[in-house]
Amino acid sequence: MYSTYIMVKPDGVERGLVGEIIKRFENKGYKLVALQLLPTSRAILNEHYCDLKDKPFFPKLINYMLSGPVVGMVWEGKDVVKTGRRLLGETDPLKSAPGTIRGDYCIDVGKNLCHGSDSVESAQREINLWFPSGVISWERHNVHKLIY
Ligand code: TYD
Repeated sequence: MYSTYIMVKPDGVERGLVGEIIKRFENKGYKLVALQLLPTSRAILNEHYCDLKDKPFFPKLINYMLSGPVVGMVWEGKDVVKTGRRLLGETDPLKSAPGTIRGDYCIDVGKNLCHGSDSVESAQREINLWFPSGVISWERHNVHKLIY
């Protein structure tokens, strides 16, 4: 079973969109196995975005991510890494289809509301980074009753 790291960025928390983002993953049928609200730090962000450190937008990205707390989550389920990114939309909100989170709620790439791991490997790395003490293992009984 695959897991992915989904994060509501500071603008999403500030705008009160945490519940909306959680709802979309719940409605789709994914299972929440970890959840936290926390202020970020330069140290964890440098780790999280280590692949982007040479990009021109990196300093602005870090300042934006430091502007308020984030909500980090781990979601589990069939093909959740790829499908999770489809639920979020494209990196650039203007290229995101209506019906996706970014397509419905934002217009700036520098304030694109949410993060989702881009591969199974980066999901594992990000889950270990943000949830070093691990996630919760639990079973959903009568799953059809919970979803519909
Ligand atoms: P990236 O990892 O390329 O995209 P994604 O978040 O979809 O995996 O980039 C990380 C974040 O950096 C992205 O969510 C928003 C920001 N960013 C910019 O501010 N400007 C840009 O031109 C790009 C490509 C990203």
